[in-house]
Amino acid sequence: MIFALGVCSSVSYFEIKKEIEVTVKEWSEKIKNCASLEELEAVRVELFGKKGFFAKEFEKLKALPKEEKPKVAKELNLAKEQLFKEIQLKKDELLAKEIDKKLQEEYIDVSLLNSKGYKGALHPVMYTLDKIIEYFSALNYSIQTGPLVEDDFYNFEALNLPKHHPARDMQDTFYFKDGKLLRTHTSPVQIRTMLSTKPPIRMISPGAVFRRDYDLTHTPMFHQVEGLVVDKAKKVSFANLKFILEDFLHYIFGDVKVRFRPSFFPFTEPSAEVDISCLFCEGKGCRVCSQTGWLEVLGCGMVDPNVFEAVEYEDVSGYAFGLGVERFAMLLHHIGDLRSLFEGDLRLLEQFR
Ligand code: PHE
Repeated sequence: MIFALGVCSSVSYFEIKKEIEVTVKEWSEKIKNCASLEELEAVRVELFGKKGFFAKEFEKLKALPKEEKPKVAKELNLAKEQLFKEIQLKKDELLAKEIDKKLQEEYIDVSLLNSKGYKGALHPVMYTLDKIIEYFSALNYSIQTGPLVEDDFYNFEALNLPKHHPARDMQDTFYFKDGKLLRTHTSPVQIRTMLSTKPPIRMISPGAVFRRDYDLTHTPMFHQVEGLVVDKAKKVSFANLKFILEDFLHYIFGDVKVRFRPSFFPFTEPSAEVDISCLFCEGKGCRVCSQTGWLEVLGCGMVDPNVFEAVEYEDVSGYAFGLGVERFAMLLHHIGDLRSLFEGDLRLLEQFR
């Protein structure tokens, strides 16, 4: 099989060329017949290894007459190149076959019942949302929804946030080229509901909202629940709001202290933020509550007269509140990093089965 160049220095160049051709054919056949990547690798080493076929043949060149050397070397190089290409092609072919085989073997029939008997479970955010809705539904609050892509009017203007109002910076907004935006809170649903219905109103509005924020406690998309109650003038008071929210927070978090702190929202006056005593240190002070003993959970207030004016409501009174569902879920389930809620990692999700 192997042409002994060194020994047959008397043979003509053409004979050598022929011999090389025959040998290449034999190697080609060998490569073609490889059934696995391992076999192919063995052939590759036999051919191109340090002590392989080509190394030996080039070694033999030394013994050839000067004028023969370059010609034979050229033929050898051509043969080398060709066989190298063939090995590469065969390798691609075998790799593709191996992947196909793996895909076949690892095919998952998603219609089969799984052997571990897992059932699906609600995502912690949806579980928390359900609990919140459960409370207000029982009190006959209706559930309203609105679009995620909003107009400036509903998201800001009608909520007493005129253009260039500094309070717009409280909510980093995603804008579209045409001036529309991804709603930054669920408050626009207040406006939509008031514009489409007459008072009295008693509603909540759960849904996704968007802000340009990303860290341990913020993701660009999260969920809020808005609340709005409107009735005749003087019928709805801050005391009503306080009672409902305290009762609601006890329903969700159990036996916690609740406090109202004066705050500011353009669409409510007066406004308050609501804190509960820290669930982790019972008010003693820890890392979660930044040593304050309190956790902020809600924003609320009496509907600002400018908002009623924007929707042409007269002689009414009302309260509104808004909360972040992920924040509630994190506190209820002791989740440290908000972002982990949206990574789809089964190790986290399995804990809520
Ligand atoms: N929209 C406010 C926010 O996103 C929350 C809020 C709603 C405050 C209703 C008061 C009344 O921060």
